[in-house]
Amino acid sequence: MAFGNNKSSIILLLLSMIYFVTLIPKSHAAIAKYDDYLRKKANESFAESLKAFDPNPEKVADELNEQVGETLVHENLSRRHLKEENDCKATNPIDRCWRCDGDWSKNRKKLAECVRGFGHRTTGGKDGRYYLVTDPSDDDMDKPKNGTLRHAVIQSEPLWIIFARSMVIRLKQELIFASDKTVDGRGVRVRIAYGAGLTLQFVHNVIIHNIRIHNIVSTPGGMIRDAVDHIGLRTVSDGDGINVFSSNNIWIDHVSLSKGTDGLIDVIEGSTAITISNCKFNNHNTVMLLGAHDNSTKDTIMQVTVAFNRFGKGLVQRMPRCRWGFFHVINNDYSKWLMYAIGGSSNPTIISQGNRFKASDNPFTKQVTKRESTESEWKKWQWRSEGDKFVNGAYFRESGPKVKHTISPLKEKNLIKFKPGSYAGRLTRYAGALNCVAGKSC
Ligand SMILES: *[C@@H]1O[C@H](CO)[C@@H](O)[C@H](O)[C@H]1NC(C)=O
Ligand SMILES: *[C@@H]1O[C@H](CO)[C@@H](O)[C@H](O)[C@H]1NC(C)=O
Ligand SMILES: *[C@@H]1O[C@H](CO)[C@@H](O)[C@H](O)[C@H]1NC(C)=O
Ligand SMILES: *[C@@H]1O[C@H](CO)[C@@H](O)[C@H](O)[C@H]1NC(C)=O
Repeated sequence: MAFGNNKSSIILLLLSMIYFVTLIPKSHAAIAKYDDYLRKKANESFAESLKAFDPNPEKVADELNEQVGETLVHENLSRRHLKEENDCKATNPIDRCWRCDGDWSKNRKKLAECVRGFGHRTTGGKDGRYYLVTDPSDDDMDKPKNGTLRHAVIQSEPLWIIFARSMVIRLKQELIFASDKTVDGRGVRVRIAYGAGLTLQFVHNVIIHNIRIHNIVSTPGGMIRDAVDHIGLRTVSDGDGINVFSSNNIWIDHVSLSKGTDGLIDVIEGSTAITISNCKFNNHNTVMLLGAHDNSTKDTIMQVTVAFNRFGKGLVQRMPRCRWGFFHVINNDYSKWLMYAIGGSSNPTIISQGNRFKASDNPFTKQVTKRESTESEWKKWQWRSEGDKFVNGAYFRESGPKVKHTISPLKEKNLIKFKPGSYAGRLTRYAGALNCVAGKSC
């Protein structure tokens, strides 16, 4: 689709407005039948999400701001001692934690210490063995072949999943994860494409790292194994890139996503403790849905950090679209959205700090924000912009109370400061899947 000229932008805008209003409810979860196993899983995962919920989200947000500040100071220092780290430039605290290690390939599990923000307890498959994916095929939904990604993700033990070589994995059906997994695509080029996407449903503790997900399509459903001891009947899948459903402690980092059928990343139905960082998004309508229903009040526990991502060309809306929960949108770089960038309904809290918002030339899409409600309602919602940088006429409509900042534990009495949007370009420079080479800093 060409998004270039003005006329097509306006048509697209109108079409998306209709789409926005008549938003199709999604929460069926592609489960055709809830059996005892799934009922139990649903019950357990919601109890876990309640536990993972942080009663002091402002503090978590500020801690991340503080870490960004320290990393930039550190970067300045190491620049003065150029030889020190191979001249590796890792500009944000997540990357700084692992990317400059020339031995990253011998030290892969170090990554599990690097997550920041609401997903900070996620360790993925750190306590498990490595699983080497050797086979890109995806033929058997009941007994997946040993060596395939599907065989890896359904195992009950923790696993750190790596790939023997570059591959395109075309999933016949949704890839349904069990808990405690890391998918680590470093060192090769792994693409999940032209088939179904990833489903994280009723699970905890999953890291998705350094892969490419594109051209995801809706798939027909049927019997799909989601654990070594369970297989269940699924309905048609929506065609999301990554669907996080009633799950907690999830970290999605350095993933490149484009051209899905439905959302690129959807986080719904009482999921929480989630960080989406260093990802690159392109060419898609509905980018990121955080909360699917205005009546899904359990999403009040949803807490998501959206940090250091690059929202690039050809994106229409939902970067993200939020409901109910607490959303920290920090140091991302937005370029020329076609409808709006950040939207929501049902009284979500949105703290936008240090992002760069560059509007397109279309005079009708300069506003960053979009609210589905009446002004008398939404003026109470806390949507605040601090230190954001606005380019080409972009503007953020604020509402609700000011952000309460916590006092820095390190620099006594000082309120923690965010890094302003003028840094967003630097902080997101390496967003998306990286081409890491073993033996060199990445
Ligand atoms: C969870 O389990 C409790 C006690 O076993 C039960 O009362 C409740 O209905 C269950 N909730 C769901 C959502 O299944
Ligand atoms: C890093 O150095 C640049 C250029 O000298 C300076 O403008 C910037 O404020 C420094 N950043 C930090 C976080 O100290
Ligand atoms: C899968 O293959 C690996 C390596 O060939 C082997 O060690 C392992 O036992 C196999 N697992 C199963 C479940 O067959
Ligand atoms: C929420 O709304 C949707 C769409 O109107 C409906 O399908 C669903 O049953 C409702 N759920 C509850 C819990 O009321």
